Amino acid sequence: MGLLTALQDDASIPEKRVLVTGATGLLGRAVFKEFKLYDWNAVGCRYNRARPDFVRVNLLDFAAVRKLLQDFKPHVIIHCAAERRPDVVENEFEAATQLNVAASGNLAKEAGMVGAFLIYISTDYVFDGRKPPYREDDSPNPLNLYGKTKLDGERAVLQNNQTATVLRVPVLYGDVEKLEESAVTIMFEKVQFSNKSANFDHWQQRFPTHVMDVAAVCRQLAERRMQDPSIKGIFHWSGNEQMTKFEMACAMADAFNLPSSHLRSITDSPVMGAPRPQNAQLDCSRLEKLGIGQRTPFLIGIKQCLWPFLIDKRWRQTVFH
Ligand SMILES: NC(=O)c1ccc[n+]([C@@H]2O[C@H](COP(=O)([O-])OP(=O)(O)OC[C@H]3O[C@@H](n4cnc5c(N)ncnc54)[C@H](OP(=O)(O)O)[C@@H]3O)[C@@H](O)[C@H]2O)c1
Repeated sequence: MGLLTALQDDASIPEKRVLVTGATGLLGRAVFKEFKLYDWNAVGCRYNRARPDFVRVNLLDFAAVRKLLQDFKPHVIIHCAAERRPDVVENEFEAATQLNVAASGNLAKEAGMVGAFLIYISTDYVFDGRKPPYREDDSPNPLNLYGKTKLDGERAVLQNNQTATVLRVPVLYGDVEKLEESAVTIMFEKVQFSNKSANFDHWQQRFPTHVMDVAAVCRQLAERRMQDPSIKGIFHWSGNEQMTKFEMACAMADAFNLPSSHLRSITDSPVMGAPRPQNAQLDCSRLEKLGIGQRTPFLIGIKQCLWPFLIDKRWRQTVFH
């Protein structure tokens, strides 16, 4: 008996079914947990990472995707799988386009065939960052190939399924398996090594957003949509604390009472890597007006997810008394 059959045959499983793609990833893990917590029958999809309780599917295998959807018949699909590293997309543009655009368009089409509501996770990098804050109907103009593939993915999703939804979010952090998993948590290594000066960007304005908050928004949107079919189109969600990477690094040092005199701010626009928008702040009022949203204060969220990676546990006394 396959994993999916076993899950379906369990009579105790509740009726609301959600499929989470990229459920082994940073955001997908939080989304999967959130829906489970609210008693959804959730199936998580993985690809290369080992997670025996998740279904292995390559989203580029369209026949396998069709079979999965026809078998499970989800009411909701949260599509988190993507190539989301801008520098990787620059170097492997074709492969990234296949996943971010072609596979997303196909998933949206198949979702339509089984009547599932699809949420495609997109990014603030669809904007050029010159005129923030951005509303859902502002014109996108991605500066890098990652932003371009995500925007093309949005278009492919909405063309193939007119009742689907796009949820744009900014830089994410949360419970990581390793610090490199998030552009936010990766800074903690340099923050902790106070014997070596460390440069951090102080040019790009970011709005670090906890994955648990995005997961809660996805669940709230899905539940609202089950009551109200007019919920569709593009939405924005974001934390509301504006910070550069330098300010995030200082906040991390503060959170654990660590020295911060070795942290240096770089105010010039970065010359290395894929170009980034200076300030792609997302206006979230469309969701806020619907009463949908959740925001974890950065200091609380970052302390909780970095704690397992704190090297010098002597700080334990001063941090948690
Ligand atoms: N992270 C951010 O800061 C950020 C910011 C804005 C928007 N977003 C968007 O948020 C979404 C989630 O990002 P994330 O950071 O959670 O990504 P992530 O941690 O890099 O996870 C990517 C996921 O995609 C899966 N995957 C890769 N290739 C696949 C394939 N061919 N078939 C099926 N699954 C495949 C991976 O599965 P395996 O690991 O099992 O191979 C993994 O679960 C993405 O759409 C991203 O564009 C992210």
